[in-house]
Amino acid sequence: MANYDVIVIGAGPGGYVAAIRCAQLGLKTACVEGRETLGGTCLNVGCIPSKALLHASHQLHEAEHNFAKMGLKGKAPSVDWKQMLAYKDDVIGQNTKGIEFLFKKNKIDWLKGWGSIPEAGKVKVGDEVHEAKNIIIASGSEPSSLPNVEVDEKVVVTSTGALELGKVPKKLVVIGAGVIGLELGSVYARLGSEVTVVEFLDAITPGMDGEVQKNFQRILKKQGLSFIMGAAVQSVEASKTKAKVNYKLRKDDSEHQLDADCVLVATGRKPYTDGLGLEALGVEMTERGQIRTNAHWQTNVKGIYAIGDAIEGPMLAHKAEDEGMAAAEVIAGKHGHVNYGVIPGVIYTHPEVSNVGETEESLKAAGRAYKVGKFSFMGNGRAKAVFAGEGFVKLLADKETDRILGAHIIGPAAGDLIHEICVAMEFGASAEDLALTCHAHPTYSEAVREAALACGDGAIHA
Ligand code: FAD
Ligand code: NAI
Repeated sequence: MANYDVIVIGAGPGGYVAAIRCAQLGLKTACVEGRETLGGTCLNVGCIPSKALLHASHQLHEAEHNFAKMGLKGKAPSVDWKQMLAYKDDVIGQNTKGIEFLFKKNKIDWLKGWGSIPEAGKVKVGDEVHEAKNIIIASGSEPSSLPNVEVDEKVVVTSTGALELGKVPKKLVVIGAGVIGLELGSVYARLGSEVTVVEFLDAITPGMDGEVQKNFQRILKKQGLSFIMGAAVQSVEASKTKAKVNYKLRKDDSEHQLDADCVLVATGRKPYTDGLGLEALGVEMTERGQIRTNAHWQTNVKGIYAIGDAIEGPMLAHKAEDEGMAAAEVIAGKHGHVNYGVIPGVIYTHPEVSNVGETEESLKAAGRAYKVGKFSFMGNGRAKAVFAGEGFVKLLADKETDRILGAHIIGPAAGDLIHEICVAMEFGASAEDLALTCHAHPTYSEAVREAALACGDGAIHA
């Protein structure tokens, strides 16, 4: 048994970042993790492995579709799936070991095993009970299930199984046109699978800017993904090697069936709080099973904080990290802060899709007068040189004050470009501030400046 200032439960991006910040602020810190490796969902079965497979499959796509155009002749490489998975596992290993190194460097004790909270101020791991002045719960999330769909992680899989399939399936049915479905659907489409996405709503990626949704879906269709929209999946019948997906079209209630070699269930994730003992402690939860916290990440039980996917808000690694740092600062007596209005979202398909702040839809609903500055990547020399002219930057600014309210990008490096706008928003900048900033040529970033110019007197290359 040991005494700590802080014990963090869970070593995902929320938990490990919280632990590091606590240690940096001079607090004696431990982090409990039940997995064999640190890094949580993100490093082990989420962000990092999915990006490795997106990168590898994109290279194949480039070789198949664009190399010859540049005078690079010869057959495109064939896929050695085992090697691709080994590369992905190596990337995971490098990253999870990196967190172990950071724990040692910051003198954070890794308490190996599953933790519970028998009472405020105590954390039990195995037979040991440790004392902690403060506890941060960062227990993350897990895939949510669908009625009448049994996941075996072989034929009917969640994202976890989809990152280590035995082989590339001939026919893949993806249930849910959200971030996971489209990222992993893209991977398998590039590797040669026939991919059909079945979505309950009439638009993909719910909550995103409507214009981006339409363009994104059109681009994905061109890449070979098929979509069945407005379709509610009723059940999946699976054998050891095949599956049938039964769905009903919402418009007429007609019943249909799809054959598949593999079914990816990507219908959202839910908070994971099993085994922590929260009910007995009286920790308040929301109706959606999230741990309820106040503006300082405190639960209703003194000394117990919660962050990341286990609480309200977008289920994103960087949101969890920001909350981890902020909660640590609150515990250390400082002023931890997260600006929830400026949390970017990125979909790592090709082209990438990114967003921050308001959408046209949300501004209309709020009755706020706004202007739109839009610039197509077709007017960006660098994008055209690398076959990435599809897509646009769309900037939303207040009609009167010109203050930037949001941005939506579909195009090359959209996930990086968005941060210029995030910084501008943090500083309360106007579109004119961006437009007056010299941007290097030839870069994709010029498209952001052009969109800002389009909010004023007009873009130059439009
Ligand atoms: P988690 O990362 O889920 O970590 C929680 C950890 O707590 C786990 O390791 C778990 O084992 C441990 N734990 C739980 N209970 C206990 C206990 N009682 N005792 C000990 N340990 C416990 N987000 C992005 O921002 N960008 C992306 O590109 C992205 N890609 C994704 C791709 C996929 C396929 C998936 C599934 C998710 C992706 N996400 C992405 C979401 C991202 O992974 C999560 O938002 C993020 O991991 C949440 O961090 P967290 O620290 O709250 O929880
Ligand atoms: P999601 O919430 O993004 O999308 C789920 C989709 O499934 C929705 O479009 C929904 O309408 C649909 N759906 C639900 N029930 C259905 C049914 N019965 N039949 C057909 N469609 C149905 O969830 P997803 O993609 O599983 O991702 C989970 C979380 O992981 C997200 O919150 C996301 O933030 C995070 N994530 C983030 C990534 C990133 O930042 N690049 C990458 C992957 C995941």
